[in-house]
Amino acid sequence: METVVSGIRSTGKLHLGNYYGAVKNFLAMQDNYNCYFFIADLHALTTHPTSTEMHKNVRQVVVEYLAAGIDPEKATIYVQSDVPEIIELYLYLNMNAYLGELERSASFKDKVRTHPDNVNAGLLTYPVLMASDILIHRATKVPVGKDQEQHLEMARTFGNRFNRLYNQEFFPEPYAFSSTEKLIKIPGLDGKGKMGKSEGEGNAIYLSDTPEVIRKKVMKALTDSGPTAEQQEKPDYIQNLFDLMKVVSSEDTISFFDEQYNKCTIRYGDLKKQLAEDMVLATDPIRSRISDISSNNDYLKKVVSLGAEKARESANKTLTEVRNLIGIKPF
Ligand code: TRP
Repeated sequence: METVVSGIRSTGKLHLGNYYGAVKNFLAMQDNYNCYFFIADLHALTTHPTSTEMHKNVRQVVVEYLAAGIDPEKATIYVQSDVPEIIELYLYLNMNAYLGELERSASFKDKVRTHPDNVNAGLLTYPVLMASDILIHRATKVPVGKDQEQHLEMARTFGNRFNRLYNQEFFPEPYAFSSTEKLIKIPGLDGKGKMGKSEGEGNAIYLSDTPEVIRKKVMKALTDSGPTAEQQEKPDYIQNLFDLMKVVSSEDTISFFDEQYNKCTIRYGDLKKQLAEDMVLATDPIRSRISDISSNNDYLKKVVSLGAEKARESANKTLTEVRNLIGIKPF
């Protein structure tokens, strides 16, 4: 059975972008693959959370993974920092990761531009840690969004380089994987880019948002006074609302508003009301499970320690061979 690895950085609550872009994909895979889904808390350290935030965020993501339907009996769910083997592999891979290639990574350049005051070494070697996450289980499939393609390419490079250096086909090549044909993009509500938490509170709809909050956020989404000619192309911020409908609304609803748009009779207020209601409906079962699971600390503890145990078993196998290949051997 092929091995699947994916992680979500624990920078807070999950939003619809995480859910439709990543978690739904996980759900589709847990029956058919050997799956490892983890909470990337070490990656989250690049932005210096306080220790209270750090723990709260990890817990929140575990709760929301479970509420979204990831089944700890089928998949291995663990917290990255519970598996120190990953950190050791990260050190080995760092020896063959070069400054030039790390500096050329798009996500690094992006961070340098947006946070020039916090260009730390952890940020520079973020792709090496991510490669360790994947290679530690010798995974071949990684369900991630489009924005992670370059990181995966780097993981292949680091794995192949290790193989060449030690003359052994040890790490297989990991590739991005989606259970649906295309990698979907979930736009945010600010009319600009993808849904994300760094874009401001109102831009993202969280799985734990109450129906009132969802309605408020959606009603605030950017629109205009409407199309002025029939069959006019939709501006980005309107297309975004339609793209969001594609994930939560029925075909009928979408074609109804599409027609109204094309005939210039569309009322954006109605579209947003419908979109909000469909979002409320889509998230309703998850929302109630979030509050149930969150209040059951014994259960959470069990899930996380079982996950760590299973993940460490797999990680240890890889690491023992890696050490041996490198020449770190017992006397
Ligand atoms: N970099 C990913 C993100 O920001 C999170 C991540 C860390 C990850 N390690 C991973 C995803 C390993 C897949 C596999 O979304």
